[in-house]
Order: sequence, then structure tokens, then C-alpha cells
Amino acid sequence: MDQITAVCPGSFDPVTVGHLDIIRRAANMFAHVIVVVATNSSKRPSFTAEERIEMIKLATADIPNVSVTHYDGLLADYAKQVGAGAIVKGLRAMSDFEYEFQMALTNKKLNPDVETVFLTTKAENMYLSSSMVKEIGRMGADIRDFVPEVIHETVLKRIKTERK
Ligand code: PNS
Repeated sequence: MDQITAVCPGSFDPVTVGHLDIIRRAANMFAHVIVVVATNSSKRPSFTAEERIEMIKLATADIPNVSVTHYDGLLADYAKQVGAGAIVKGLRAMSDFEYEFQMALTNKKLNPDVETVFLTTKAENMYLSSSMVKEIGRMGADIRDFVPEVIHETVLKRIKTERK
């Protein structure tokens, strides 16, 4: 798979250590990984796309074959535009499966040239999600273990001041 470009899409609102683990492992498997901050129409993000890109760039600065971008349309179209052969997603518990399976099948229908590859999350990240991090951080819990150190202060500042 050392010739293949992969896209790693998500809301990343904000990027967590769970996301970062998946991005790192994808970067070990593929020639180039493009992390795509994409639009999930069922979510209302706390950070702008530009802020999320900046945080992911900071967190992945040491991984040479990773780049970060934003795309507002269909992921399948973006994958086609950049000639990506794979979409990499992290899978946590069974609860992720149905939704992820549906997206994988839809993306395959829209772009038959792209394969969705699921990487199983590390056990310690099974329960981790951006919304959980924001909720517990807002209520005063220490979120240091859940987000990359380099973005910790930025995340804390935003979630403490935002109205939800
Ligand atoms: O981190 P998330 O919110 O679970 O990621 C979901 C995301 C952003 C990858 C998904 O909503 C997506 O691919 N959005 C782009 C628009 C699109 O292609 N929608 C159809 C997906 S089958």
C-alpha cells in the first residue's frame, strides 16, 4: 500500500488522541494521508474548519506524510479529485459499526475506486469522542489525557467560554 494515498475524514471537533492514533497508524500504512475536515450535517461544531485544521496540523507536525485540509462536499468526490485509493476510519465499539458501514457502502457506490479501511481503536480509546471531551472539559474535568498536549489550552479556552 506504499503507493496509495488515503483520506482520513472526520469532524475532528476537536482532534483527540484517539484520532491521532488512527492518523499515525494510517501514515505507517499508506504513502500519503490527507486528513479531511469534512462536514457532518448532523453536528454543530464548536470550532471553525480553519481552527480544526490548525489544531490537526499542530498535532501531526512530526508526521511527514500527513497533510490536512477542509472539504465541504461529498467525501467520495474529494477522494476522486485527489486520486485516493482508501478512506481510513477508526472503529470503536459496535455502536460505531452500523453508521460506519452505511457510510462505507454509500462511498463505495459514489466512488467505486475507493476502499474504506477500518482500523480498530486502541482499547484505551474505546470510549473517547470529541463530544465527550468537550462535555467533561466544560464541567471542569481534566482533559489532558484525551487531546494532544499541543492543543490542550486552545480546546480548554474555547469549551469553557462557549454557550451550549
Ligand atoms: O467524525 P464524524 O462526524 O463521525 O465524521 C463523519 C464525516 C464528516 C466523515 C461524514 O459526515 C462525511 O463524510 N461527510 C462529508 C459529506 C459526505 O460525503 N456525506 C456522505 C457520507 S456517506
